Amino acid sequence: MRKPIIAGNWKLHKTVAESLELANTLKTSLAGTTDTEIIIAPVFTALGKVAEALAGSNIAVAAQNCYPEATGAFTGEVSPLLLKDIGCSHCIVGHSERRQIFGEADQFINAKAKALLAENLKVILCIGETLEERQGGKMYDVLTTQIKNSLKDISAADMQNIILAYEPVWAIGTGQTASDEQAEEAHAFLRGLLQGMFDPEVAEATRILYGGSVKPANVDGLMAQEDIDGTLVGGASLKAEDFSRIVQFKCS
Ligand code: PGA
Repeated sequence: MRKPIIAGNWKLHKTVAESLELANTLKTSLAGTTDTEIIIAPVFTALGKVAEALAGSNIAVAAQNCYPEATGAFTGEVSPLLLKDIGCSHCIVGHSERRQIFGEADQFINAKAKALLAENLKVILCIGETLEERQGGKMYDVLTTQIKNSLKDISAADMQNIILAYEPVWAIGTGQTASDEQAEEAHAFLRGLLQGMFDPEVAEATRILYGGSVKPANVDGLMAQEDIDGTLVGGASLKAEDFSRIVQFKCS
């Protein structure tokens, strides 16, 4: 029994006032939701205020990134310690935009995951292939490498605090969602990998989210798939009405 998770990645959008407005609207409209975990990831500058506004609610707050050291001479960075300090409970790592635009590699992502776990924060670890990799028949190799390297030296016990997000790069922000079958195929493959790397219990318990152009119109079909345990939503998480509908997905 894996409790679904719907997470909103606000990326580089919204001022503090706009973030608070959206957070407060969601707090009211989703107050009755108990069967799905809800997470939102605002920009750094809004994190503290949004976490304060949502304290005690059913919406958890995530950062979109972190640096794997607690303190030190790391100009411009934010650590897991500081995220915890302002009321964050989760952090996204390994998003394809960080991999592609900022050149982040699995080893760095692994260090971030471990630093977050050390502060008892939950990790949303993103992985996913590019269109070129998929068309070149390398999708399974890419996913295997990303998972193995990003989860290096992470224990079965720590996996309770790791959420995976399969986000095919070609589906992010493009409007081109993976089909239900394409997404399920990748998720089932990832669950199989977890079984081999850890054990059947870890494979069974780990939540694997799908991300890439999730919208109210396609969430129900995705969530009906056996191995899809939630979604990581970018664009559609910026509108209260759309995100609320995604949280209230319907499985037939
Ligand atoms: P999208 O972004 O929903 O806008 O495609 C998803 C993500 O990057 O997490």
